[in-house]
Amino acid sequence: MRLHFLCYSSIRTSNHENLLDEIEDILKVARDFNKRHQITGVLYYSHGQFFQYIEGYEPVIESLFDRIAVDPRHHFIHYYGTLPTEYRRFKDWSMKYVQGNSKVRELLERREKEYPISYELIQDHLVAFIDELIRSGENKIR
Ligand SMILES: Cc1cc2nc3c(=O)[nH]c(=O)nc-3n(C[C@H](O)[C@H](O)[C@H](O)COP(=O)(O)O)c2cc1C
Repeated sequence: MRLHFLCYSSIRTSNHENLLDEIEDILKVARDFNKRHQITGVLYYSHGQFFQYIEGYEPVIESLFDRIAVDPRHHFIHYYGTLPTEYRRFKDWSMKYVQGNSKVRELLERREKEYPISYELIQDHLVAFIDELIRSGENKIR
């Protein structure tokens, strides 16, 4: 079976829980499930926006995405699509976590000037953005 990756961005629904508790909960469940299903990837969060990159076997990541997409903790999901990949970019992480940092934010700000819908990345920026998430150090929640 061939490896694939998919990614999306979304907006956090902010009606409820403490942000740190919420991200901690998401990562706990995600890391446990992903480990058991050979899924790796990265979750990025900054200023109310999520971006997630997930890699693994196609039916597995697509069925996970179907579940994630209906999770009430976020909405306005912008799906960038699923593509085959020769290798895992996040092979050492069941779900790496990266918080807004200046390099990543710089990319987003550049993009926001060009595109009014701030949480959507265009294809060119997407590649640069994923590269930045590979280079970024992992953040601890607390
Ligand atoms: C932004 C975000 C990212 C998530 N990423 C994952 C993930 O990588 N793996 C995972 O198993 N669950 C992830 N979840 C949690 C799922 O949406 C869902 O709550 C979890 O899989 C449990 O599903 P269930 O309640 O249907 O059993 C994520 C949720 C959010 C809001």
